[in-house]
Amino acid sequence: MDKKVESKTVGYSRTVMSRIMLPSEANPAGNVHGGEIMKFMDTTAFVAAVKHCRTNVVTARVDELEFYLPILVGQLVTCRARLVFVGKSSMEVAVQVQVEDLKIDKPPKTALTAYFTMVALDDNCNPCRVPRLELRSPEEEALFKKREKIYLANKGKRKSN
Ligand SMILES: CC(C)(COP(=O)(O)OP(=O)(O)OC[C@H]1O[C@@H](n2cnc3c(N)ncnc32)[C@H](O)[C@@H]1OP(=O)(O)O)[C@@H](O)C(=O)NCCC(=O)NCCS
Repeated sequence: MDKKVESKTVGYSRTVMSRIMLPSEANPAGNVHGGEIMKFMDTTAFVAAVKHCRTNVVTARVDELEFYLPILVGQLVTCRARLVFVGKSSMEVAVQVQVEDLKIDKPPKTALTAYFTMVALDDNCNPCRVPRLELRSPEEEALFKKREKIYLANKGKRKSN
């Protein structure tokens, strides 16, 4: 990590990735497998986290993964990722998946959401410090505090196991 960079905004690492879903990613009825979308979410969270810390990162945890809508072959899927909380070496990334049918003139709908915890690693694969998250709105501050409580509670549970 560049030692001179002490904090970065949420916008700095915000990431959007889109792709068309293919038959090889679906069951015989044309429903895309949940795991394919989860992989796409993980990749988008990875990109956002690496942009924030500029080191390698690994996925440590996924929270509150919810599937609201089916996704079908031929639909355009867009993953949006943004950092919502940063600890010392961990970053929590909120990921929203939107789905749309390109042949129909309607806005995209939210199909899935989840929070991915990504941990930054140095060249020796040890967790390393990441820049602080510079919060620029009351919404960002409220979400940071909410996810910080969950981060602390989960840390406590891991210690007591
Ligand atoms: C994530 C990992 C690097 C943490 O290593 P560790 O030696 O346990 O590190 P620490 O206990 O010092 O924790 C480092 C950070 O990770 C966080 N962390 C560790 N385990 C976690 C978990 N299960 N869930 C959420 N965060 C976790 C800690 O809270 C800490 O965050 P902080 O620095 O912001 O406070 C290690 O458990 C690992 O490599 N796991 C496998 C990751 C992986 O390969 N993912 C892809 C699977 S295919």
